[in-house]
Amino acid sequence: MRRFCLDRRYFPTAPGIWILAFLAAGSAFPLSQAKELPFRTLAKKKGILFGSAIRARAIEEDPEYSKFAAKQFSILTPENDFKFDALHPEESRFDFTRADQVVAFAKKHRQLVRGHTLVWHNPEALPDWVKNPDRTPAELKKLLQNHIKSVLLHFSKTANGVVVSWDVINEAFDEEGNFRQDSIWARIEPDGFKFFSWVYRLSHRIAPKLKLYYNDYGIEAPGKKTEAVFRMMRRLKQAGVPIHGIGFQTHGSSGWNTDLSEFPGILKRFDKLGLRITISEMDYSIPTPATSTKDLEQQARIYAEALKACLSVNSCQAFITWGFTDRTLWEGNFKEGFGASTYLDSEMKPKPAFRALRRVLTKK
Ligand code: G3I
Repeated sequence: MRRFCLDRRYFPTAPGIWILAFLAAGSAFPLSQAKELPFRTLAKKKGILFGSAIRARAIEEDPEYSKFAAKQFSILTPENDFKFDALHPEESRFDFTRADQVVAFAKKHRQLVRGHTLVWHNPEALPDWVKNPDRTPAELKKLLQNHIKSVLLHFSKTANGVVVSWDVINEAFDEEGNFRQDSIWARIEPDGFKFFSWVYRLSHRIAPKLKLYYNDYGIEAPGKKTEAVFRMMRRLKQAGVPIHGIGFQTHGSSGWNTDLSEFPGILKRFDKLGLRITISEMDYSIPTPATSTKDLEQQARIYAEALKACLSVNSCQAFITWGFTDRTLWEGNFKEGFGASTYLDSEMKPKPAFRALRRVLTKK
């Protein structure tokens, strides 16, 4: 009887069927998905948050994009809108317009936001005024300190309880496991441990409620880089530095980072350090045009494996993909001839990876 009552909610009356059919005909998202429980609900039952990188501009300009994001996600990572170049375009001017749009969207749809990112060396995400080579290390230190302070205070005031965590330092290690010496920030302090300690203690002093993460790619399989990051996290924890979590970006592509068989074991090692874990930028690019069933199935398998790895450790907080539709990919992210890295195609139609994720989340 109880079951029947529950089911009734999903079986509309005759006029209801016609209205829904009419709505589905005009939507790229088919009726069969319209009545399925959203990712955020399924993920909640498994004890995790589910989300995606998000662009304020796409939320504003693309109704299908924003509708999907509003319905499906419990956590958002601003893909670019919280980066240094976006927030601090001139030395004496901050611009929180786009960032605040992301926060407003999250508030409206009862979602959390992961700040991304305060300290990243990538010149694409730094404004020209920072890249001035004449700056002394002391000047660089002062400007980074000012940036971190202003940004964290802004969100503490305007997004308390919404922006709950930050990728404080992003991608500080090279493939060989060295603390990147070519980073502009290494000029402040070339010793990785001292640099991390300074940045995390500073951030914690300014915003003590936030969960502070380190975030990197290419650490999902054993190797020099994975080991170097592990050792740094262990050392920081042992020294009592306030670092609370680690983001495994989990970018991959046909031919790169395709083997996630050791990922659960790696997550367990970090979990034992007392760190929270997030799958922070999951995607998997394949040759384009993405018409090969074999490639699409491979992509689906990798998405499912990454999600399963997250579910295998108690400390995994969230599964976040780097975008959710091939409509908003930035081609510069991939090697030539590759792309289609998300689980919806550019018309918002589900790819095998979409179904694979749902299967993992609905499995008892
Ligand atoms: O929007 C402008 C457009 O108006 C302009 O005409 C065009 C010309 O260059 O640029 C467009 O902006 C680009 C933006 O992506 C669009 O999405 C920026 O130039 C470009 O620098 C920016 O790249 C971003 C990149 O980080 C650097 O910030 C990517 O979107 C973003 O996906 C990528 O994200 C990184 C994570 O932060 C860290 N981990 C790796 C990940 C993927 O590379």
